Order: sequence, then C-alpha cells, then structure tokens
Amino acid sequence: MSDTIAVITGASRGIGAALARGLLDPGVKLITLARRDDAELAAAAKAAGAELEQIKVDLSDLAGADTAARHVAALLAPGAKRYLLVNNAGTVHPVAAAAALTDGPAIAQAFNLNVTAVMLLTAHFVQAVAGFDAVRRVMNISSGAGRNPTAGWGTYCATKAALDMYTRVLNQEQGAGGVRAVSMAPGIVDTDMQGTIRASDPGHFPALSKFQDFKASGALAQPADVAGRLIAYLGRDDFGATEIDDIRNYK
Ligand SMILES: NC(=O)c1ccc[n+]([C@@H]2O[C@H](COP(=O)([O-])OP(=O)(O)OC[C@H]3O[C@@H](n4cnc5c(N)ncnc54)[C@H](OP(=O)(O)O)[C@@H]3O)[C@@H](O)[C@H]2O)c1
Repeated sequence: MSDTIAVITGASRGIGAALARGLLDPGVKLITLARRDDAELAAAAKAAGAELEQIKVDLSDLAGADTAARHVAALLAPGAKRYLLVNNAGTVHPVAAAAALTDGPAIAQAFNLNVTAVMLLTAHFVQAVAGFDAVRRVMNISSGAGRNPTAGWGTYCATKAALDMYTRVLNQEQGAGGVRAVSMAPGIVDTDMQGTIRASDPGHFPALSKFQDFKASGALAQPADVAGRLIAYLGRDDFGATEIDDIRNYK
C-alpha cells in the first residue's frame, strides 16, 4: 500500500513536471493529468520505485475533465497515510485588454481549465477521501495575478481570483477535521508559460518589457527549486494556516 497518493495536474511541463519528479519515491503513488503522456516521467518513476498513472486529458473540455476526475477518485484507495491533490495546470490565454476580450469560447476555455476543472477534480477528491483517517490536502496553484490587477490579463486575473475564493469556501465547508486547502502563488518561474507571456502583443500587454527583463536579468525562479519548496510546504504541520499564500514566504 502506498504511503502517499498524490494527484498533479499539468505534470508534463514547467512547475508540474518538476513537482512530479520531486515527489517520486518508493511508497508514493503518483497520478498525473495533462494532454500528453510523459515517457521520461514514466522512466523516472520506474527508476525511483514509485507507482505512476498518467491520465491523458484536456481539462478545458468539461466532459473530459469530469471523466478524469471520476477516474482519479477511483484510484484513491483507502489505507494511505497522505492524499494530496495539486491543481497546477493553467493557462494565461487569452491575453488582451478588457475592451478586446470578445472571444467567448477562448475565455470559457480558460475558466474551464483554471477554475471549473479544479472544482470538478476537488469535488471528486473530497468525496473519495471523506472519512479517511489520513492527511488530506489540496494545493491550488494560483498567482499574484489573482490578487493584483495586471492590464491585459482580465481573464487570467479573474480565474486566479476565483480560484482563491473557491479555496476559501472549501476550507469553510470542510472545517478543522476535513480536507485542508491552500491557494498558493508560486512566484515568477522560468517555464513555457513565461515564454508565452513574453510573446504577448505589447498593444494588449503593457507590462511586456518588465517580463522580458525578468528573463534577461535572471530573476525567474527555476521550476525544480519552486517545486522543492512546494513539496516541503505540502509536508508542513501548519499546512493551510494561511489559506491564500505565496511560496516566496517560505525560504
Ligand atoms: N510560470 C510562472 O511564472 C507562474 C506564475 C504564477 C502562477 N503560475 C501558475 O502555475 C501553474 C503552472 O504554470 P507553468 O508555468 O508550469 O505552466 P506551463 O509551463 O505552461 O505548463 C502548464 C501545464 O499545464 C498543462 N495544461 C495546459 N493546458 C492543459 C489542458 N487544457 N488540459 C490539461 N493540462 C493542460 C500542460 O500540459 P500539456 O500541454 O501537456 O497538456 C503543462 O503540463 C499554472 O496554474 C500557472 O497559472 C505560473
């Protein structure tokens, strides 16, 4: 029986890929979700003696997300010491000034991935682990963008603000003895998402040069470093003491 069963969305690249690799250990069963399987991760899991199940799903497709959430729940067998859900997959698209945010399907896709799929996965996770005598934790990977406005990011900021509030509602409902959740900003991390941000149209994203400077000046955090700190945070006794948090608060 696994000591830890950990579920990570968006584990194929960036922060999620680093989290997945950081969690590989004998006694860990890792369940990952992304639009593609990761053969390298499968090899790393085998070498580390960890159990791995990769679920290929487009989480912006709600029927797919619902099926995947039920599949994940069925894999959360009783008897482990820890059950972790890290809702990490996300998108910054569409980047456009509010007056130009007219592509309803693109906006809906972002909300589906950044918010609705998180809610579906969390609902099935919470149901599956209800009553388990085990550590049960949800970490939603949020962003400073959910807490401070950034021009051009009307969609992204709104999804992350929604994620923060959803996390608070979940904690209020679950109470002291239930599943504990945190909405955690990861800092500014050197991933494909930052590349996407640097490719934004300056006409729609006035902060473009600031983000180009982050990369040029070496100010971006490395995914493996951030993942290490997130994993350490997942193991803290005071996990969730601050429900809307930022990993940069933990050195
Ligand atoms: N990087 C930063 O500076 C930064 C700052 C603040 C917050 N964040 C947050 O941190 C999280 C991870 O960001 P990142 O920078 O690591 O992003 P990333 O490098 O773009 O990776 C995104 C991950 O999400 C998956 N994903 C994207 N769309 C998906 C979909 N429709 N269905 C399923 N999986 C999907 C991708 O896998 P596939 O493409 O294989 O599906 C990939 O594994 C996000 O929630 C982001 O908002 C990042």
